[in-house]
Amino acid sequence: MRNVLVTGGAGFIGSNFVRYILQVEPQVHVVNLDALTYAGSLENLRALPDPERHTFVQGDIRDRPLVERLLVEHEIDAIVHFAAESHVDRSILGPQAFIETNVMGTFTLLEAARTVWGNRRDVRFHHISTDEVYGSLAPDDPPFSETTPYAPNSPYAASKAASDHLVRAYGHTYGLPVTITNCSNNYGPYQFPEKLIPLMLLNALEGKPLPVYGDGQQVRDWLYVEDHCEAIWLVLRRGAPGETYNIGGDNQPANLAIVRQLCALLDERFPDSPHTPHADLITHVRDRPGHDRRYAMDIRKIRTELGWRPRHTLSEGLRKTVDWYLANQDWVEAIRQREDYRAWMERNYAARE
Ligand code: NAD
Ligand code: DAU
Repeated sequence: MRNVLVTGGAGFIGSNFVRYILQVEPQVHVVNLDALTYAGSLENLRALPDPERHTFVQGDIRDRPLVERLLVEHEIDAIVHFAAESHVDRSILGPQAFIETNVMGTFTLLEAARTVWGNRRDVRFHHISTDEVYGSLAPDDPPFSETTPYAPNSPYAASKAASDHLVRAYGHTYGLPVTITNCSNNYGPYQFPEKLIPLMLLNALEGKPLPVYGDGQQVRDWLYVEDHCEAIWLVLRRGAPGETYNIGGDNQPANLAIVRQLCALLDERFPDSPHTPHADLITHVRDRPGHDRRYAMDIRKIRTELGWRPRHTLSEGLRKTVDWYLANQDWVEAIRQREDYRAWMERNYAARE
């Protein structure tokens, strides 16, 4: 693969992926198509390695003429599709954008790829998806495997499930060479501070309450973002067309345990802070409607077929993440100053008090 179209490459995982492939693949040229919604920023793409192999295009994945033109002009032979509305709480308060971008956007990309690529088989459409499509596990259920039936619970999860089905159908019906990865919760540098880990970290540094939804015993499977990027690149190069691969971090702490671990890291870094012990800031707030109780990923397929496994333990990944946010206060401050960010915090949290 020489010319890769990355969609959503100015967001959290997409920008980490762009950085990753520019580093590991010295021949690849990346075209990065991103609409720069509230979640995307050119600040996430600063100091890229070898920036002349990266072309940024601000645009919408639903703009079919634009997508077709990019595929032709840049002789794209692989699409890595991250662009999405990604936050469950936002999907509960306003689902429409999720249907438009996640469903219609994916459909538009598939149509553009089918039109421009025709019957070519030396190309790849790789779709980034989530473990949330599988629904919620009871405490003793086995982890999600690639054959677990879909049972999405939130509008976000339902929109991602719909997009997965479309991708699979284009592979089956038209022979488009597609692969799908379903991944668990990512964390690490450049994650927008509306998600659990950066939100708790930044609130704790400011001495603000740490809003744990419900009893905090919900379980997620956490993966350091760089490990996710490595898995995607492996699937792109060696994954079989038509296949789905589950990706996860092989660890499943409860939310409250994660928040406590972050607080302990901050106590260690700032023993003299007036907010130490930071765990005293933990506040239980009203739960997310329809909140999935437990996710866990069975990653045996990608491990045995492609030899991937997460490189970071949770405590290593959390330490790196804390270091990154502390070293990038200007990045954080720029988001904190934004009116749309403040409005979101007010809208999501005021109602939970
Ligand atoms: P994000 O919200 O940080 O970034 C999404 C990016 O997509 C932003 O840069 C945004 O500007 C762009 N975008 C949104 N709508 C667009 C449109 N219509 N056209 C072009 N660009 C558009 O998301 P993320 O957390 O980096 O997630 C990336 C992908 O990975 C998503 O598909 C998500 O479903 C999936 N995923 C995320 C996680 C996670 O823990 N964050 C886990 C598994 C899967
Ligand atoms: O599982 C993969 C998914 O992980 C991705 O597909 C999504 O794009 C990504 O946003 C993430 O979804 P979650 O809903 O799991 O992530 P979030 O960070 O919003 O929440 C993680 C857990 O923490 C969840 O159980 C809700 C809880 N939570 C979250 C926030 C923002 C709180 O208790 N308090 C909070 O303030």
